[in-house]
Amino acid sequence: MEDRKELADRELVQMELNRCVGILEKNMKRFGTDFPSACATNGKYRIKKNDDWTNGFWTGMLWIAWLYTGKDLFRSLALENVKSFQKRLEDHFVLDHHDIGFLYSLSVVAAWKVTREEDLKSVIVRAADVLASRYQKKGGFIQAWGKTGDEKEYRLIIDSLLNLPLLYTAYEITGNKGYQDIAESHYDKVIRNIVREDYSTYHTFYFDPATGQPDHGATHQGFSDSSCWARGQAWAILGMPLHARLSKKGFTVEEKELYDHVCAYFEDHLPSDKMPYWDLIFTDGSDQPRDSSALAIAACGMLEMNRSQRAGEMVAVLNALASSKGEADPEGMILHGVYAYGEGKGVDEPNLWGDYFYMEALYRLWDPQWTPFW
Ligand code: GLY
Repeated sequence: MEDRKELADRELVQMELNRCVGILEKNMKRFGTDFPSACATNGKYRIKKNDDWTNGFWTGMLWIAWLYTGKDLFRSLALENVKSFQKRLEDHFVLDHHDIGFLYSLSVVAAWKVTREEDLKSVIVRAADVLASRYQKKGGFIQAWGKTGDEKEYRLIIDSLLNLPLLYTAYEITGNKGYQDIAESHYDKVIRNIVREDYSTYHTFYFDPATGQPDHGATHQGFSDSSCWARGQAWAILGMPLHARLSKKGFTVEEKELYDHVCAYFEDHLPSDKMPYWDLIFTDGSDQPRDSSALAIAACGMLEMNRSQRAGEMVAVLNALASSKGEADPEGMILHGVYAYGEGKGVDEPNLWGDYFYMEALYRLWDPQWTPFW
């Protein structure tokens, strides 16, 4: 019985991976060497240049599709994308923010891990330098947005946990411990300040620019300063074990306890169908939209922790309630994400990171030996 269930799950994973790869192949014809927008409108992505924080997700999906299928068209376009990321770095085009990790881990780092092409190392290190240049010694954190040192923007945000892997890759390449020191200091500041006493999280946290002392938490994309943005909690669920692996320190007993509490807060605030609302303040009976991307990120967190059973359940919920398999001509892999509810951006729409993390979760389940690009 158990074996049959596992077989069925593997078949589902394969079916969904095949479907996602098919969508990707079709999307590639439309986007060419351009990129899809961060989120869709009425299910369709806009054609954009390499100018947002999300472009790496597209290239990351191409790399996964190449690993899964071995089809050269995915590798060729991914390598073409890499040139665009190199140019973006040379031009310092829309890089005055901390999301350089999201951009370069899934494009150039992925290319380096797949091809071991030596020339890519210097690109990775330069990208890491741009990220490291946002480090604020006073406070010991990487400033998320705005001009570095801007007193009004003296804050970190929880999403940053996914930017730290780039610093660890630069450390691996150069042996320069400075990258690791920045990553560890920033991680420590995130965890100490952004996790509340009840193990929910703030989206962002401000520091006093004069003293560097922790000041206050606030939201940016959540419902309120005191609520818990679902995707923020999910960034922690994936970002914490990623850091444990990349720092090569694992979790201490206390860190593991903290992690379990952070996960439990997420689980305890899921509605009965287990698909999170966009903010965990909402629950059964609410007519607010869900955020499927938060669940896809959390599923990758479960896989990073080797909790494959729970990850499989999350993927099954995504498959049942959000997969675009029933749509006539889908461009997104999963429906029902929310980008920024307050700005009316990408509400109840596919988004690139939801698609990417759904594929990452599927491919992690498909090949448990695979080490993701982070
Ligand atoms: N990192 C931005 C977001 O999750 O919307």
